[in-house]
Amino acid sequence: MFRISQFIRELDQPTPAGPRRNPPGPVVIWNLIRRCNLTCKHCYSISADSDFPGELNTEQVFKVMGDLKAFRVPVLILSGGEPLLRPDIFDIARRAKAMGFYVGLSSNGTLIDENNIDAIDDIGFDYVGVSLDGIGATHDKFRRLEGAFDASMRGIRLCQDRGIKVGVRYTMTEDNAHDLPALLKLVEDEGIDKFYFSHLNYAGRGNKYRADDARHRTTREAMDLLFDTCLDLHRRGIEKEFVTGNNDADGVYMLHWVAARFPDKAEHVRAKLLAWGGNASGVNVANIDNLGVVHPDTMWWHVPLGNVKERPFGEIWSDVSNPLMAGLKQHPRTLSGRCGGCAYLNICNGSSRVRAQQITGDVWAEDPACYLSDDEIGLDEASRGDRVELTAYQPRRRVPINVEQG
Ligand SMILES: C[S@@+](CC[C@H](N)C(=O)[O-])C[C@H]1O[C@@H](n2cnc3c(N)ncnc32)[C@H](O)[C@@H]1O
Ligand code: SF4
Repeated sequence: MFRISQFIRELDQPTPAGPRRNPPGPVVIWNLIRRCNLTCKHCYSISADSDFPGELNTEQVFKVMGDLKAFRVPVLILSGGEPLLRPDIFDIARRAKAMGFYVGLSSNGTLIDENNIDAIDDIGFDYVGVSLDGIGATHDKFRRLEGAFDASMRGIRLCQDRGIKVGVRYTMTEDNAHDLPALLKLVEDEGIDKFYFSHLNYAGRGNKYRADDARHRTTREAMDLLFDTCLDLHRRGIEKEFVTGNNDADGVYMLHWVAARFPDKAEHVRAKLLAWGGNASGVNVANIDNLGVVHPDTMWWHVPLGNVKERPFGEIWSDVSNPLMAGLKQHPRTLSGRCGGCAYLNICNGSSRVRAQQITGDVWAEDPACYLSDDEIGLDEASRGDRVELTAYQPRRRVPINVEQG
């Protein structure tokens, strides 16, 4: 996660650049339920409106929360599927708050209504994130439900009426990139506190859909717009959080943006970026899926590390016998291709290893969604030339079972 607004503030109010961050335990994104009332095109959890057996019951969730507290996890993001479909969601959230976690709710917003807004308000969520992948029909098409945009907007406004901190979360592809300017305007007009810009990651349905991922030029234009908008709001005295996720090359791109516009600030921003350190999957961000399986982050559901029903979370998280976890915990990571030759690897840390693996088959190869040029990443001579291209998803061929051989 890259906090644009923090770096923009550094331009006017610089703060000392400390050592690289080292929080107590990881932020945990917890998919408490996989059922969902939507079936979005890009959904990493491949959620749908059906029952997924084996999910943790309330008592099991409470027990795991104790393990997370013991491991000094500071933040719980309650997610899904659609978390509001869990009948005990408010019991879980209330307990999490009472235990002292910072508690976020990650929702599609369509189920926030007059009947549950009192309960949502009563919990005292630190943050409610609602996904909006475009305006009106763009969002409805992406989320494959007519009327979803209006329902999510109603949810956002109900939260805002109660003074709950709300953020809009937007995942960009070529299909909805044209709505980014309008979404940013909506965020300002509606007085929304936070805008989270997510790059597409190639997991679940998002992997099948990856051919529609934003082209590098689209991403660069989006970043320019985000940085400019954030700076403009800041200088007009309107403080909002602007955050990106799923592409840590954003930090490097911002360094060039600063160097071009405010050259005297570039060294300070570089020091702050080094302290940030880029991708933190497997280190400062963790995921527990609906069945209790722990993953290095939400996009790694194809790699199980252990189940919290069987082992305490801290034990699973600290175990580096899995080579993926051992490699992710290195800083900077040992990578090949463009990432390996990049002069800014200690800032970005190789971005998404999931995308590298899905496209090349090698977890430690370059991230194909790095949208910076060879010059912009100070690429060494040996690594220049061919780069990994984004290829469409190819379904694995089913091998027919030979019945005669049993
Ligand atoms: C899985 S959803 C669960 C919460 C809720 N149902 C929602 O849609 O906000 C959590 C967030 O992940 C985002 N997301 C899902 N699949 C993604 C992918 N492949 N790449 C990037 N973000 C993704 C969604 O847009 C949403 O903002
Ligand atoms: S992204 Fe969220 S709303 Fe969409 S299908 Fe997945 S869990 Fe449901």
